[in-house]
Amino acid sequence: MRPLISVVNLSKTYEGGFTALHDISLEIREGEILALLGPNGAGKTTLISIVCGIVNPGGGSVTVDGFDIVADYRQSRERIGLVPQELTTDAFESVWNTVSFTRGLFGKAPDPDYIEQLLKDLSLWDKKDNRIMQLSGGMKRRLMIAKALSHEPRILFLDEPTAGVDVSLRQDMWGLVRRLRESGVTIILTTHYIEEAEEIADRVGVINRGRIVVVEDKVELMRKMGSKQLTLDLHDTLDQVPEALAEYGLELQNDGQQLVYTYDVHRERTGITALLGALSEAGIRFRDLKTDQSSLEDIFVNLVREQE
Ligand SMILES: Nc1ncnc2c1ncn2[C@@H]1O[C@H](COP(=O)(O)OP(=O)(O)OP(=O)(O)O)[C@@H](O)[C@H]1O
Ligand SMILES: [Mg+2]
Repeated sequence: MRPLISVVNLSKTYEGGFTALHDISLEIREGEILALLGPNGAGKTTLISIVCGIVNPGGGSVTVDGFDIVADYRQSRERIGLVPQELTTDAFESVWNTVSFTRGLFGKAPDPDYIEQLLKDLSLWDKKDNRIMQLSGGMKRRLMIAKALSHEPRILFLDEPTAGVDVSLRQDMWGLVRRLRESGVTIILTTHYIEEAEEIADRVGVINRGRIVVVEDKVELMRKMGSKQLTLDLHDTLDQVPEALAEYGLELQNDGQQLVYTYDVHRERTGITALLGALSEAGIRFRDLKTDQSSLEDIFVNLVREQE
C-alpha cells in the first residue's frame, strides 16, 4: 500500500547553520496513529513544520497523498490539519468565528452543522460566543484542535497536544483522537511522555538530535523501552554485590548504600518477589525502597549509546 505521507532523505539546516534534521526517511500509513517521541530540540517540530509547509525543507522530499509539499503545496496542505506547539490565536475573536473563518481559509464552503458538531466534540459548544482571551489554557488548546479540523482534513498533526492539559481532559483528548482515527483520519502526534504514546499510538518514532533513532510498532518498542528500576536503601553498606545475587544484575550505587534492580514491567514476572527473598536469605536488610519508571531521556541515552 502506498504510504499516505512519504518523507525521503529529508534534511534541514536553519539560517545560522544549525542542522536540525539529518537525512530523515519515514513513511506514514493511512489510518494510523504515529507518536513521535524525542527530547527537547530533537527536531520534532521542525519535521512537522516542513511536512505542513511552514518551514522550507533543505534536502530531500516529502509527499502527502502523492502531492509534493513544495511543487503541489495547495493540494498537500489542504489534506492536513495542524495543531501547533505554540498557541497563536486572535484574542478578540469569538470561538465560533475563528473556527468558521479557518475553514474558509481552506476554500471550504461554510458548514455550520459540522462546526457545531466539532465544537461539541471538543466540549467548547458552551463557549462558542466567548472571545478567545476568555478561555482557559486547556480550552485554547482544544480550540486549536477545532481550528485544525475545521476543513475536514485527512491528516492531523498534533504537536505536544497535552502540554498544560489536565489529566481528565487528556483522557477526553485521547478519546477524540481515537474517534478521529475511526473516522479515517491519520494522526501524527508528538509527546514527551512514553505513557501517552503507549496509550494511544499504533507506531512510535523516536527522534534524537535530528535523526530517526527507531520507528517501530508500539508493542515491540515498549517491550524494549519499558524498564523500571527498584532502588533499595541498604541498612549496612556493601563492598560488592554478593555472588548469590549475581543473576539479578544488580548495581551497587552511592558508595555501597543502594542496590538498584532494573526490570521489565511488561514481563509477566518482574522478579521482585524472588529478589526480595534472595536478599533476605543473603542477610541484606534495607531501610527503604522506591521504584522509578525510566524517563524518556533515560531511554534516549540508552538508545543513543546503543547506536554509538
Ligand atoms: N527558526 C529556527 N532557527 C534556528 N534554529 C532553530 C529554529 N527552529 C528550531 N531550531 C533548532 O532546531 C532544533 C530542533 O528544534 P525543534 O523545535 O524541531 O525541536 P523539538 O523536537 O520540537 O523540541 P521540543 O520537544 O522542545 O518541542 C533545536 O536545536 C532548535 O534550536
Ligand atoms: Mg517541538
